[in-house]
Amino acid sequence: MQRTLVSETIREIGKTVKVSGWVKTKRDHGKISFIDLRDRSGILQCVISAQTRNYEEAKLVRDQWVVELTGKIKARPENLINSEIETGKIELEVLEYKIISRAQELPIDVSLEDMHLHIETLLDYRNLTVRNEKVGAIFRVYAQTLKSYSDFMRSQNFLEIKTPKLVYAATEGGANFFKVKYFEEEAFLAQSPQFYKQAGVSFFERVFEIGSVFRAEPHFTSRHVNEYIGLDAEMGFIESCEDIMKMLEQTMKKMLRDVKDNCEKELRLHEASIDIPEKFPRIKLSEALDILKNKFNKVSEEFDIDPEGERLICQWAKEEKGSDFIFLTHYPVTLRPMYTMPDPENPKETLSFDLLYRGVEIATGGQRIHDYDQLKKSLEKKGLQPQDFKHYLEMFRYGMPPHGGWGLGSERIVQKILGLKNIKEAILFPRDVKRLTP
Ligand code: 4AD
Repeated sequence: MQRTLVSETIREIGKTVKVSGWVKTKRDHGKISFIDLRDRSGILQCVISAQTRNYEEAKLVRDQWVVELTGKIKARPENLINSEIETGKIELEVLEYKIISRAQELPIDVSLEDMHLHIETLLDYRNLTVRNEKVGAIFRVYAQTLKSYSDFMRSQNFLEIKTPKLVYAATEGGANFFKVKYFEEEAFLAQSPQFYKQAGVSFFERVFEIGSVFRAEPHFTSRHVNEYIGLDAEMGFIESCEDIMKMLEQTMKKMLRDVKDNCEKELRLHEASIDIPEKFPRIKLSEALDILKNKFNKVSEEFDIDPEGERLICQWAKEEKGSDFIFLTHYPVTLRPMYTMPDPENPKETLSFDLLYRGVEIATGGQRIHDYDQLKKSLEKKGLQPQDFKHYLEMFRYGMPPHGGWGLGSERIVQKILGLKNIKEAILFPRDVKRLTP
């Protein structure tokens, strides 16, 4: 007999089916045992009773064992319907069973609604904890955001590209890069696909990439990891930086709408709600710093915004503009990488932005310098050697349109949608300063 998926059993009332999966929980009531069987499609209540062959032995089955159960799908009596699960109106009366794989004693009860584990325990036992429904829901939301991102990018004629992660130069500057031995040479793990997505513009006009990004950031925060998945995009023939912000705003709205429509159950499990504002407000960084000073009495020593400032400015955006999102624009040249376009009206500022969502920066973007000589000068101003960027500079010698784009952190989006305390909860196998396993 062929396996039937749990989600399909609803249509099989009165018929004999074979289902297989993990024992999520088992409850014994005298001579009867109830098994909640979990497979990739859902959960089904299965009843072990005197009808079951060797039922005394079948009752020995424990949580997380992998089993194959054959029996009859029956409608449950009205008063025993479980409206929490899709198959709540039916159950399987088990006639035959087969144990496929036994589980050893479980260090963690993953059947609980809320496991309340310390983050390190959650991650140390990832192979098991991900079986918890609420934890699993995070990765369904994550998969939806990735799908929505690429669907939307394609709908806007962006071509998907993949770029190398072993690179010859540190694209974002700073010191947060990993050096690796590359045969006789030294290489870096890509801090972003920046140079390559710009190259993509030079022949495809609009490109996007979903790819690994490596950052050797030695700190422990709830929003940094050392390897994350970046949602990057780059587009040519822009009129202004506003074109990029508009595209990113539409992208975010599409992602949120899709999660709202397709992940109802997952959002419910996390008691999360999604609000999509009509328009994301945009203010200059300088205005944000004024608001922080005047409204929150928060003065920054440097002309920059710290995590606490980001949280407060988001609070302001929510209260004053009814938006969970806010664009901060015109970051000073000193805070932006060498490829960022200075504002012709105020060369100390750049045509760049950060997008903040629910208290955290989720994206950075802006217009890039597309003129060869201007870019060379910008490199030199940052104390960099143009010959070290020979291959990057090359594309600007062969015709490059005005362009720009963004880098968006996929895990931070999911963290903020679901209200997760730590970004690492949104990563199956995260990498941090102390964690290279599992
Ligand atoms: O702000 P970042 O460093 O910008 C860039 O990489 C540029 N090349 C983007 C561009 O196109 N100009 O990183 C972009 C986003 C951040 O806003 C954040 O969401 C995420 O990537 N990010 C991290 N996520 C998790 N852990 C880290 N250590 C991260 N660093 C950045």
